This record gives sequence, structure tokens and C-alpha cells, in this order.
Amino acid sequence: MSEELKQKLAELVKKKIGQNSYERFSDIISEEINKALLNKKIVESLERKGKLDDASEVKKLIKKIKKRIYYSSRVYYSAEGEHVSILERGKNLTAILEFLKKLMIEKNINTIVDIGSGTFPIYFDAFLGEASPKLRYYAIEKNKKIYESLLIYSKKSKMLLTPILADADTDSLEEIYKNINNYDKSLTLLLRILHTLYRTKRLNLVEFVEKIGSKYLLISEPKFSLVKKNDISKKEKAFLLRLSNKLKANGTISDFEILDTEEEIFVLMTK
Ligand SMILES: C[S@@+](CC[C@H](N)C(=O)[O-])C[C@H]1O[C@@H](n2cnc3c(N)ncnc32)[C@H](O)[C@@H]1O
Repeated sequence: MSEELKQKLAELVKKKIGQNSYERFSDIISEEINKALLNKKIVESLERKGKLDDASEVKKLIKKIKKRIYYSSRVYYSAEGEHVSILERGKNLTAILEFLKKLMIEKNINTIVDIGSGTFPIYFDAFLGEASPKLRYYAIEKNKKIYESLLIYSKKSKMLLTPILADADTDSLEEIYKNINNYDKSLTLLLRILHTLYRTKRLNLVEFVEKIGSKYLLISEPKFSLVKKNDISKKEKAFLLRLSNKLKANGTISDFEILDTEEEIFVLMTK
């Protein structure tokens, strides 16, 4: 691999994304540059072109780096300290809470595992009130600030809320479910998180879902993008449908049901 080419690319990336981001995300940047330089075709083409600024390979590389930086640095709190996912749902939040409560009763659920929970458990607890003091709710969250606010809340929650500070991926799931161990009566939530996890961690989704130790899974994706407010519903629905069909075909799940709401698309899977 040409060191000179590597340095030139690094300089270009720095110029395009700025010194601060360059330093903050140096891991992602060097990983992507190294990966690009492992591709013989790219190296040959760049060496032939000489001038790199306008090379399509470089543009692609910078686009990819920017995308990874965007997904790894998404801020989930608004200026008022409210979790963005909660704000985005607006008036639809109550409908989701009601749906979840009904589902719990219908399927006789006594344990919820919420992966990438955000502050959702707080709203669910307040909504349930005295309805389900025996519900065990495990909130898996990698953001320390959110985890700490869940921990403070758990001292006064009606349900038995256990926040877990963890970075969920296929390996950590095994450890998490080992301690929960209540397959038949448990529901795992992956609300507005799975597609991001898939992109940032390059998850093998079949393996990931296989490791989930719950009979029921409720997955959702938003219909509008966080920043630009673009309509992403078609893309997200296709993602959920493709995944569900694949999991059903290979026997990981026995059935699934898609629920399309105003703000969010849900899929309920049964293993
Ligand atoms: C878009 S929010 C959704 C929050 C919540 N599920 C909801 O629907 O209201 C995603 C949350 O997942 C957390 N998160 C992202 N990646 C994670 C990971 N690998 N493990 C655990 N939590 C993660 C983020 O910190 C954030 O709070």
C-alpha cells in the first residue's frame, strides 16, 4: 500500500470534513482509507489520475466516511433534554403505549427487554401506573447520560426497571439474555434502532435475531428522517419486510405481522 497515497487521502478527508471531526473520528477515517486502499482497482485508478480532488473514488470514500460519522454521532437529546424519539412521536406516543399494554396482556408478557431503550421505559411506566407492578423491564442503553437518568428513575418506578449500560451487538446479546432467562413470557423491543444498528455495526441480522431470547419481538422504524424530515417510509418498510420474510423462510421466526402507523412502521415477530 502506498504510504504517500494514504497520506494524500487523509489530507483530503481532513480538508473536506474539518480538523475537529477529523480528529474526533480518526478511527473511522483510517479504517475506511485502509479499506479503500486494499482495493487494487481503486489504487491503480488513483495513481493513474494523480490529481485526487475530483476523483470519483475519493468522492465516494468521503461520502461513506461522512455517513458513518453521522450515524455514530447522532444526538438523541433535544435542547430541552427530551429524547428525540419521544418528541418525534408527538401525539402518537399514547397510541404506541396503549398498543404495547394490550400486547402485554394478550401474550401474557411479564418481562420486557428494550434494546436501545432511550427514555421510552419512563413513559411506559408512567402510562401503566399501577397496572403492572410485576413487570420486569430491562432497558439496554449504551449512552451513559440516558442510562443514568434511567437509573435514577428506576428507584421510583412502579415496574421493576433494570437499566443496563451496554453496547448491544450479536455477542453482547448472549450475555444479556443469559441473565434474563424468561423466553416464553418475554417481549424484546427494538424500537427505531435496528436499521441503525445494522448500518453502524454491519450486523448479520439473522444471527442477531437468533440470539434474542424472547418469543416475541416488536421492531419499529420511523417513517421520517431525523434531520431532514424526508419521507423514508418506503425504504424502512422494505427493510422490515425483507428481514421478516428472510427470517420466516429460514425458520428463525414462525410468523410476523406488519403494522403501519402515522409516524412509525412496526413488525411483530413470533419465534
Ligand atoms: C433512535 S433512539 C430510540 C429510543 C427508543 N427505542 C424509542 O423508540 O423511543 C436509539 C437509542 O438507542 C441507543 N443505542 C444506539 N446504539 C446502541 C447500542 N449498540 N446498544 C445500546 N443502545 C444503543 C441510543 O443511545 C438511543 O438512545
